[in-house]
Amino acid sequence: MSTTSDTAASARRKILVTSALPYANGAIHLGHMVEHIQTDIWVRFQKMRGHQCLYVCADDAHGTPIMLRAEREGITPEELIARVKQEHEADFAGFDIGFDNYHSTHSEENRELAESIYLKLKEAGHIAVRTIRQAYDPVKNMFLPDRFLKGECPRCGARDQYGDNCEVCGATYSTAELKNAVSVVSGATPIEKESEHYFFKLPGFEAMLRAWTRGGHLQPEVANKLDEWFEAGLQEWDISRDAPYFGFRIPGTDDKYFYVWLDAPMGYFASFKNLCAKRDDLDFDDFLGPDSDAELYHFIGKDIIYFHALFWPAILHGAGLRTPTAIYAHGFLTVNGQKMSKSRGTFINARAYLDHLDPQYLRYYFAAKLTSRIDDLDLSFDDFINRVNSDLVGKVVNIASRCAGYISKKCDGQLSAGCSEPELYRRFVAAGEQIAGLYEQREFSHAMREIMALADIANQYIDEQKPWVLAKSEDTAQQARDVYSTGINLFRVLMTWLKPVLPKMAGEVQDFLNIGSMDWHDCDQPLTNHRIDTFKPLMTRVEQDRIDAMLEQTRSELAEHAAAEAPMETTEPGPLQADPIGETISFDDFAKVDLRIARIEKAEHVEGAKKLLRLTLDLGGETRNVFAGIKSAYAPEDLEGKLTVMVANLAPRKMRFGVSEGMVLAAGPGGEDLWILHPDEGAQPGMRVK
Ligand code: 2FM
Ligand code: ZN
Repeated sequence: MSTTSDTAASARRKILVTSALPYANGAIHLGHMVEHIQTDIWVRFQKMRGHQCLYVCADDAHGTPIMLRAEREGITPEELIARVKQEHEADFAGFDIGFDNYHSTHSEENRELAESIYLKLKEAGHIAVRTIRQAYDPVKNMFLPDRFLKGECPRCGARDQYGDNCEVCGATYSTAELKNAVSVVSGATPIEKESEHYFFKLPGFEAMLRAWTRGGHLQPEVANKLDEWFEAGLQEWDISRDAPYFGFRIPGTDDKYFYVWLDAPMGYFASFKNLCAKRDDLDFDDFLGPDSDAELYHFIGKDIIYFHALFWPAILHGAGLRTPTAIYAHGFLTVNGQKMSKSRGTFINARAYLDHLDPQYLRYYFAAKLTSRIDDLDLSFDDFINRVNSDLVGKVVNIASRCAGYISKKCDGQLSAGCSEPELYRRFVAAGEQIAGLYEQREFSHAMREIMALADIANQYIDEQKPWVLAKSEDTAQQARDVYSTGINLFRVLMTWLKPVLPKMAGEVQDFLNIGSMDWHDCDQPLTNHRIDTFKPLMTRVEQDRIDAMLEQTRSELAEHAAAEAPMETTEPGPLQADPIGETISFDDFAKVDLRIARIEKAEHVEGAKKLLRLTLDLGGETRNVFAGIKSAYAPEDLEGKLTVMVANLAPRKMRFGVSEGMVLAAGPGGEDLWILHPDEGAQPGMRVK
């Protein structure tokens, strides 16, 4: 990539950096933290190099999910986003993410920007208006976004698939193609309705985008991916949504709103504008005006490349504004080698982590794994414990803790008057330029390897010199002091190189070493004849029980959340989902399930339900009412008098059509291929199934 390089001699750069704006309807989780830690390290590095680097972010506050969540909670969207913003900011602060500003897309700055950019695009002929047909919920009186429709995949027939793609076979389709669709909001069968929509005419920007995406602004693998999208053909982009919607109304309309993704990236600019209003020394146009010579970088996840590498530069160009210097995409976080998963309890929120573990562990661990590529990054807990304990505690902090005691106790905190190992010290300082190059290129993993290799050298030096032996004799006490002083100086250099990753610890080291600042070139000369403070432990080892406690908290929060959400689930459950075998249960859990033979006394259609039959089950004396999603496979008359297996001790569940008092077990891929009947003629109602 041809982004600006950082050399010691280069002039002071003006750099504006962003991380993707988190949605205001959910908690910050460790997936977010990969990106924010990556960005924060890069920004802190730039600041240490003396550049004017500003880091802004905001909550992405608009859209249907936020509107519906506020409604469910019985509060206004404004109240919801204000509360969530506070939580997000506290979580980020907990991980030492040093934003210069954190704003919201639901802000006056953003409204002004969205309106003015839209009007410029309209004036320049980049907006089309036409009528489209769309799924509409006749109960909630709202158009349904793709994610708010569920039904059967038109290709493989899998049930319970979203309106735009199938998680089972990977097909993508339009909502109109989805079979037996239901609204996730009300459970109603959607109808099709016409409405006028506003489109951004992306195809008109193909030439500009082809040049831009090959102009050194993207990682090579991202640019290659974009070629595939160009080959598939660019489509006009629907930038409007109908009321009810939480967002900004489109100028000149009564009931049309900007789609959340239109004003989201503008939120980057809005946050910066908000910062400029707070600070006299910053000028918006200086960084973001059409003639700005400042650098602009967006750190994002690989899932939102389309928005940032196509729509966003095209919109900016179309509105006569500057485009980003580069988009830096990263991969997803996996946990113990698998996608973060609620059912496996690995969907870990930032707060759950902070309740149990030191944020610096994770900052270092992610740094040790991050590269400039878009590969996924795995958080494996064994590896996590190992790396943190061995690198940070065992190598880096160890240098200070083995040297500080002697200097404090025997030398009154005073380091030697001269540096006894000038070459060794030079070598550590000289490594700074290579390490700086690696930070600049976002090759953090490589940078951490270089720093740890230096830490090994420092420890070896102390081991070889054996200052604890030298310290025993008066004649060699000065040599011991020299070795320990060198150790402290080498530690200072290492902590300087680690400061972008471990800013909190670097601050403590600054106090311990009694130094005013810790910028990149501050350690060019060793500390001599200098008094240091008393050493306090900088970091403790990660213990497995803290991780277990975090995972336990995560599991119970997820269970609580699922329980809280359950009554909202008004859609009919599909009988079976093609789901990989998930979390195992213990034998004790299994033993709690009371499986019984039941005779289907009566089976009836349920008015308004597409998939359900109401079954009256005889359990050998006791009768139960159960709703079963098996209508696609059985006509009611085929079921009456037959035997089946049911879970008899399932807690009664309130559904839209009544209370279901148990669950009938079924097997098969779904549709017509679904079997619930027990084949054994000798079975009796009420019998336990073993
Ligand atoms: O994917 C997301 O989480 C979006 N909220 C990111 C928006 S980034 C920017 F465009 F605002
Ligand atoms: Zn499918």
